[in-house]
Amino acid sequence: MAETTTPFDEIAASEEQFQLATYKKMPVAAERGDGVWIYTSEGDRYLDLYGGHAVCGTGHCHPHVVAALREQAEKLLFYSNLVYSETRARAAKKLVSLAPSQLTKAFFCNSGTEANENAMRMARMFTGRENVITFSGGFHGRTADAISATFLGKYRDIGKPNVPGHIAAEFGNIGSVREVADDTIAAIMLEPIQSMAGVRMAESSFYRDLRTLCDERGIVLIYDEVQTGIGRTGDWFFAGSAAGDGVVPDIVTLAKALGSGVPVGACLVTETVASKIKENDLGTTFGGGMLAMAAVTATLEAIEMDQMLQNVKTVETHLRERLKEVEQVVAVHGKGFLLGVEFADKAAPIHQGLLERKIITGTSSSANVLRLLPPLCLKTEEVDLFVNALESAIAEQ
Ligand SMILES: Cc1ncc(COP(=O)(O)O)c(C=O)c1O
Repeated sequence: MAETTTPFDEIAASEEQFQLATYKKMPVAAERGDGVWIYTSEGDRYLDLYGGHAVCGTGHCHPHVVAALREQAEKLLFYSNLVYSETRARAAKKLVSLAPSQLTKAFFCNSGTEANENAMRMARMFTGRENVITFSGGFHGRTADAISATFLGKYRDIGKPNVPGHIAAEFGNIGSVREVADDTIAAIMLEPIQSMAGVRMAESSFYRDLRTLCDERGIVLIYDEVQTGIGRTGDWFFAGSAAGDGVVPDIVTLAKALGSGVPVGACLVTETVASKIKENDLGTTFGGGMLAMAAVTATLEAIEMDQMLQNVKTVETHLRERLKEVEQVVAVHGKGFLLGVEFADKAAPIHQGLLERKIITGTSSSANVLRLLPPLCLKTEEVDLFVNALESAIAEQ
């Protein structure tokens, strides 16, 4: 495939001139991708351990996904939920079939924040109550209700004035939840592994205790699986997995990796919650559009075909073993390919050192934690490249 000849500086200057500067960007102009690799406009290649912002779970441009999109694009790009579609029917059936059996219906939307807004709305409709408990350190998106549910310092503040109806509890501390879980509470919503906070996971008993509390008090339990869903932890979902003591919430929200890069979000709900949702209660023009639905089915099929869940488990073990050799690593948090590598010192210079060695990783709101969210097809050889580069980046500090 021909590379463009446009120099990096020209591309960057043009973006800076015409796009709002809302993100601190890496000095990389991504032009094409292949699996775990990103190729730049100037012909360099980068190992992408950030998975295109946790989106490219199947890897960049997985051939099965690309072929499905091509085929769908030639047939029908879009029609809304005002018509039936075999493409949508297949995606919904496939997604539900992989989820814990209690989650029987899907609502499709376009992003993680939208999935969370709709999940909270469903919980309010279902219970007739208004308040939602979320957790310190959790991130749920940037639209009004989702950002108000986000108790992660600077993010919540961006959304001021926050909408009412949000109460915070301490992640991992069931006592702090019990204290505020009164009869005004419609839902308890959490990232089962808090990613942005530095990849924090609770004891498995915490998830069980939350389920019990919700059952006792008629509260809807929502897992925001925008990051943990679609295979990232080595299971299809955190919901129902051993890490969460097999607990299944009433609603799971998804986005990011669900469409391999085509924007799509979803809420998976139980039959009980679904039974209260009527025509016109929820809606979105683009949700369930054919291109996105073709992406969902192909994404799920690609993960199955390439046995990526097994790969995540095997390669995670190798990565953890290799990281034991790195003296400055004090802990490795998380599960599967949602990992937080904690250093004795700040992670930002290491992130920068890795970037100079053409490896993309992520930081977090925890200063010493480097986040890894690679495509689910990452191999042990690529882990070795990373660990060698990490040692060299650390040595240079
Ligand atoms: C856990 C979690 N929930 C929700 C969101 C919001 O998703 P989106 O950016 O697609 O609106 C994100 C995005 O990073 C996320 O990590």
